[in-house]
Amino acid sequence: MRLVVIGATGRTGSEIVAEASGRGHDVVGVARSADTVEDVRVHPTEKLRDLLEGEAGDGPADVAIDFTVPGACREYATMAAEAGVPYVVGTTGFDEEGLDELKEASESIPVLKASNFARGVQALLRVVEAGIEALPGYDIELTETHHSGKRDAPSGTAKSILNAVDEARESDSELDRTHGREGEHLREESEVGVHVRRAGNVRGEHEVLLADNDEVLTLTHRAESRRVFAAGAVDAAEWLIGKEAGWYDFEDAL
Ligand SMILES: NC(=O)c1ccc[n+]([C@@H]2O[C@H](COP(=O)([O-])OP(=O)(O)OC[C@H]3O[C@@H](n4cnc5c(N)ncnc54)[C@H](OP(=O)(O)O)[C@@H]3O)[C@@H](O)[C@H]2O)c1
Repeated sequence: MRLVVIGATGRTGSEIVAEASGRGHDVVGVARSADTVEDVRVHPTEKLRDLLEGEAGDGPADVAIDFTVPGACREYATMAAEAGVPYVVGTTGFDEEGLDELKEASESIPVLKASNFARGVQALLRVVEAGIEALPGYDIELTETHHSGKRDAPSGTAKSILNAVDEARESDSELDRTHGREGEHLREESEVGVHVRRAGNVRGEHEVLLADNDEVLTLTHRAESRRVFAAGAVDAAEWLIGKEAGWYDFEDAL
């Protein structure tokens, strides 16, 4: 497939370039600064429309993968919609307006968005729901750790886990979420504690703790390398080609 990787020079984008090239795909990269990654040409963002539409002489793209920042991703997804190119979004940290713009793009192209392309995290979401259903009334605390360069907090994956908590409790826990704690505060029964750590080069760790007075269950996912996100994103891109316009998540591709 002919794949455009947007954010190709980044921590995750460069792994995607390596993964897709390794699978024999025809890969071009895009980033603000033109460069090469793994011997793959990285074009400046001004060339993106041409690369998507195929006016650069190599034919139109089959699919694009975006691991950039929300503000840029919104704009590029709209460009992909105009070019008719399926779009995989790994970028996290969107506000409502940004998400609406992505959903608008999905009216004319298939858009697959996932806050985490690790298969283990998809499994964690299911296990968390099962754990909460099996242990009603247990206290729930979520802790996530990422590298010091991560911008958004809590992580997109933490938000997906919180949604899974809501599903399992059949409630909207948004009002019950306590982000960190300081000072005098007794834990409410329905409260879900959310704790964020940023340090070093941690690829991504999420832990859900379920406890009552007599036992503690912890469910942890740890990404050992960014290759796991790259493999999942390329799997998703391969799957998305030829799908109808619409909104998809990683679970659909799995
Ligand atoms: N869904 C998942 O599984 C998953 C996994 C890991 C990370 N992420 C998310 O993916 C995103 C990127 O993470 P990262 O750690 O790879 O970031 P990063 O290392 O900072 O890389 C960002 C990339 O985006 C490019 N970029 C930044 N602003 C841009 C703009 N305005 N237009 C075009 N390109 C732009 C950068 O290129 P220049 O430096 O040249 O601008 C760079 O190539 C974050 O939102 C992160 O949370 C998701």
